[in-house]
Amino acid sequence: MSTLIKGGRVVTASDDYIGDILVESGTISLIGASLDTAADKVVDAAGKYVMPGAVDPHTHLEMPFGGTVTCDDFTSGTVSAAFGGTTTLVDFCLQIPGESFAQALENWHEKIDRCKPVIDVGFHIAITDLNKGGTLEDLAKVPAEGVTSYKVFMAYKGAVMVDDETLFQVMRTAAETGALVMVHAENGDAIDILVKDALAAGHTEPIWHARTRPPITEGEATNRAIQLARVAGAPLYVVHVSCKEAIDPVARAREADWDAWGETCPQYLFIDETALEQPNFEGGKYVYTPPPRPKEHQDHLWQALRSDMLSVVSTDHCPFRWQGQKTLGQDDFSKIPNGGVGIENRLHMLHHFGVREGRISLNRMVELVSTAPAKFFGLYPKKGTIAVGADADIVVWDPEKPFTISAQTHHSNSDYTLFEGTEVVGAPEVVLVRGQTIVEYGELVAEPGAGEFVRRAAFGETLTAGQTIEA
Ligand code: URP
Ligand code: ZN
Ligand code: ZN
Repeated sequence: MSTLIKGGRVVTASDDYIGDILVESGTISLIGASLDTAADKVVDAAGKYVMPGAVDPHTHLEMPFGGTVTCDDFTSGTVSAAFGGTTTLVDFCLQIPGESFAQALENWHEKIDRCKPVIDVGFHIAITDLNKGGTLEDLAKVPAEGVTSYKVFMAYKGAVMVDDETLFQVMRTAAETGALVMVHAENGDAIDILVKDALAAGHTEPIWHARTRPPITEGEATNRAIQLARVAGAPLYVVHVSCKEAIDPVARAREADWDAWGETCPQYLFIDETALEQPNFEGGKYVYTPPPRPKEHQDHLWQALRSDMLSVVSTDHCPFRWQGQKTLGQDDFSKIPNGGVGIENRLHMLHHFGVREGRISLNRMVELVSTAPAKFFGLYPKKGTIAVGADADIVVWDPEKPFTISAQTHHSNSDYTLFEGTEVVGAPEVVLVRGQTIVEYGELVAEPGAGEFVRRAAFGETLTAGQTIEA
């Protein structure tokens, strides 16, 4: 099957030109100003952007968390992602405390076998226990499975939080195996005390989620993780940076050229902590962690994205239904499952409020949502760019299409969206994964199973089409 994408404005992290792209056998075979080549299918891209498919390196699909399970599986989650222009995601395979890493990986492979994805999928391993189930020896074997990043939580005490000893041991193992360490940076011990104090004082409403997790607790843990990673000699990636207090230590690391980087997510760029005060428990929809911050932090985040102090925009899609799941915490904010719904709207929001409103360039948007995550997570240049030999993961984007974000029309199983009612201009028109059309003019045209598991290269190494990692 061959496809010719004709006359679009091809936009990568560094290029911007009008051209034709020929796709054959799943990869880009030819790029030219005006290709005179026959193809099985022709996509007229005149007036459209032709961008590399977005890579979402932070999702939680069918994950047990907060006393329930996230409501998107690998079919609904990847369909939702595809409708937003994302063609690869990397999901957190969560080690349940007491479980081996091999068991955890088996569980996550079972999920994608049972609920097959429509876009490509990789895994990170999230380490919660090195005492009863996982061992450092076994952790060192995980990258050979194509899972080349280790995630640790410095928060969620009593659930998935690890202590500094475990964090440091994971970092030392990463320094040996070439894995990238990802960290959720908050001081979980201090937050646990603040939460208990608030509940003892009778504070049960969603706003107390933010009041018990002040920005300094994120800043302190971010700096601690960066310094420990330096001692261990491991590369570090700080997930979901939400506030100035956490940007500052990441920016210091970037300026000093230490191997530490950070991402943020749309919910921190567009939602502030007043959302938690919405009446009738509507505020519960915005209980994700770190919490939405006071509005002034948003300017700091945009500035950090422009100056490359922050390097990626992911979604941290951790979807729960409001009815029945978020309501578990109706009488106690600490029991509201933590997470937001965002996999489908990352590009809508960044294109409209970032590019159209002049906060970032189009090239920078592509870099933040596609090229940089592909590079950090061992997918580049197979993913994350438009070049001969790359996978034909392509989004034909209509920059003038009006679009309203709504839970009525989205493809997640959640019953709400974080950006409900937001009107944007710009939406995907055609989405291809390895040359196969997944979404076309608002319709899903592929079956579950169109997506594949991707074995990723070690941090700093490249992955090319057809390459597999030595087991
Ligand atoms: O609230 C969030 N972010 N839930 C998902 C787990 C995490 O901390 O990333
Ligand atoms: Zn987190
Ligand atoms: Zn997360």
